[in-house]
Amino acid sequence: MTAYDVEPGDSVHPGDPVTVDRYTTGARANHWITATCLVLLALSGLALFSPWLYFITAMFGGGQTTRAIHPWIGVVLFFSFAGLFIRFWRANLWKAEDGTWLARLRDVLSAHEVRLPEVGKYNAGQKAVFWLMSILIIVLISSGLVMWDQYFYGYTTIEQKRVAVLVHSMAAITIICVWIVHVYAAIWVRGTIGAMTRGQVTGGWAWRHHRKWLRELVGGKSS
Ligand code: HEM
Repeated sequence: MTAYDVEPGDSVHPGDPVTVDRYTTGARANHWITATCLVLLALSGLALFSPWLYFITAMFGGGQTTRAIHPWIGVVLFFSFAGLFIRFWRANLWKAEDGTWLARLRDVLSAHEVRLPEVGKYNAGQKAVFWLMSILIIVLISSGLVMWDQYFYGYTTIEQKRVAVLVHSMAAITIICVWIVHVYAAIWVRGTIGAMTRGQVTGGWAWRHHRKWLRELVGGKSS
């Protein structure tokens, strides 16, 4: 059937939308293991942080088990995030267009995409989240080890443990805020969640938000 054969009122199937591969199954599994760990760490950590939130320990089988498993979940998160880091660090390196994108944040927030430069696989906001998460996870694991008395009691002084508690709590609150920004952005930019659930995005999404990346893919230079 050609366009000339279509009469008003005919139902025309426009065909399946173009899809673009964005994440492998391995990368998605790696991401969701990391995400689950962070949620469990935030809950168990908050439960130990304030008496007001102690009731959350019931989810983990009581105060003592919460205290025992929290650091181990942290170890799993550390290695799991290391997997994400190895996969994605290169695509998160800062590029000239990222500065322009950031300077036009007002246009980003008001969805005036035509005024934004073409960006690669990740935009400046995603890159900032990536590097912040990387730094904060290193701070959290190192300060956590300083206070992990069950195994490392004798290796650090009481003063060092006190500083570690403060640094650990501040880094934890910051990473929860960064995580909220990450999840909000993933929901706010329609079509993004599918990237991490199905591994694919639509051609329209890629053209609209990551045109440089799409051009590279089409040109055979995958980033
Ligand atoms: C639990 C809620 C979470 C949701 C709904 C979520 C959602 C997403 C989505 C949709 C993407 C794909 C974005 C894109 O391709 O443009 C993504 C990427 C990513 N996420 Fe998450 N995420 C969550 C938690 C986390 C956590 C806890 C971490 C790390 C601690 C994390 C680290 C990453 C990284 C490193 C990427 C790749 C983006 C980049 O390298 O800049 N995510 N996430």
